[in-house]
Amino acid sequence: MVDTKNNMIDSIGMKSAGPERKQPWDTEGPVVRLVCPDCQGELRVEGDELICGACGAVGRYLDGVPCFTDAKYYWGEVPEQTMRLANELADAEGWQAAVEKTVPRAELRQYICDARRADFQYLWDLPADATILDVGAGWGAIAAALAVNFSRVVAAEGVYERTRFIEKRARQSGLTSLQAVCADFLRLPFAPGQFDAIVLNGVVEWIGLASPEGDPRELQLRFLRRMRELLKPSGLVCVGIENRVGWSMFRGAPDHSGLPYTSLMPRALARYWCRRNQGNYRSDKNASYRTYTYSLGGYRRLFHEAGFEGFQAFHAYDGYNKPSVLLPLENQRALLHFVKRLELGRIGWRGYVREKILQMAARTGVWARGASEYIFLLKRS
Ligand SMILES: C[S@@+](CC[C@H](N)C(=O)[O-])C[C@H]1O[C@@H](n2cnc3c(N)ncnc32)[C@H](O)[C@@H]1O
Ligand SMILES: [Zn+2]
Repeated sequence: MVDTKNNMIDSIGMKSAGPERKQPWDTEGPVVRLVCPDCQGELRVEGDELICGACGAVGRYLDGVPCFTDAKYYWGEVPEQTMRLANELADAEGWQAAVEKTVPRAELRQYICDARRADFQYLWDLPADATILDVGAGWGAIAAALAVNFSRVVAAEGVYERTRFIEKRARQSGLTSLQAVCADFLRLPFAPGQFDAIVLNGVVEWIGLASPEGDPRELQLRFLRRMRELLKPSGLVCVGIENRVGWSMFRGAPDHSGLPYTSLMPRALARYWCRRNQGNYRSDKNASYRTYTYSLGGYRRLFHEAGFEGFQAFHAYDGYNKPSVLLPLENQRALLHFVKRLELGRIGWRGYVREKILQMAARTGVWARGASEYIFLLKRS
């Protein structure tokens, strides 16, 4: 079935938009199946609309992006007007020039553009024809870097302006294997059992905001169980996230509330504190305290309860958004080797003391429990 704008979908499969793009969903293996985000029923296309037999119209194609959310909803690191401008400039001058012109902060530009942000993919052992889902894909940095190496990458993102950007980025970079889908964390429109890997980079902590009600941990569990369902039996999930009790939190780094120290507080106190002081950090939905992170043990329990096994934890030494050094936390020898390679002794007695402290932290497990940011690899059990 072909719709009027050349956005193609058959009753079960999603295909890329626009006549100028190849149809990877069609020609390079099994398609990625879209289903109704509410009842998981089959979808059909009528005009621009995506229709479920039971629920009616549940989405529509907007500029080549299948959209299942309110396209007016916005949150982000830059104001909505700036994001709109970035999209207009991307059309006129290309996505990279658009970022240069609209994002003044160099660190944010790197976050948007740097392909090394997906370097965790080299921990995987996935074939090139793997199908990968990046949930909460942001500006598409990770999804785009994955699409260079894998034949089907879906970037699911809840903010339509961001999915528009990803779509332009994919098209302009010739990444025919990358498709953006605009959808909510808690209403993802994918049929089960079709992904080899799912990326959740900077996402699990925000799940509590996807619903104004319900216990955030329960929502995170529901979301993770759904991720498990979307995976093939041998599939894996890669999670990048902060440590609730990480070293940087004790040093006053802002938590996801926008305030320091809130992750360290008991949840009830954090809620009270945020209600008094908070300024809706990054999202007008970000009120009270619903952005839960956990300790290393807390993550282990959360993922286990959600049905994942094969838990591997890495310390993302420069942060999970720059995964250039990933230290396997269960390998004490690797940590000690890393300390040796830092050659701290060469910078005098302070370096020597630091070296001894790090060695002790590695031997006692304090390093693993106090690392500021983690990357976890989880296997479907
Ligand atoms: C911290 S950013 C991470 C972006 C991306 N994973 C990366 O590492 O570059 C979290 C992303 O989740 C998206 N997001 C937030 N709430 C969402 C929701 N309810 N459904 C889908 N995406 C959502 C945000 O728009 C944002 O792009
Ligand atoms: Zn339905």
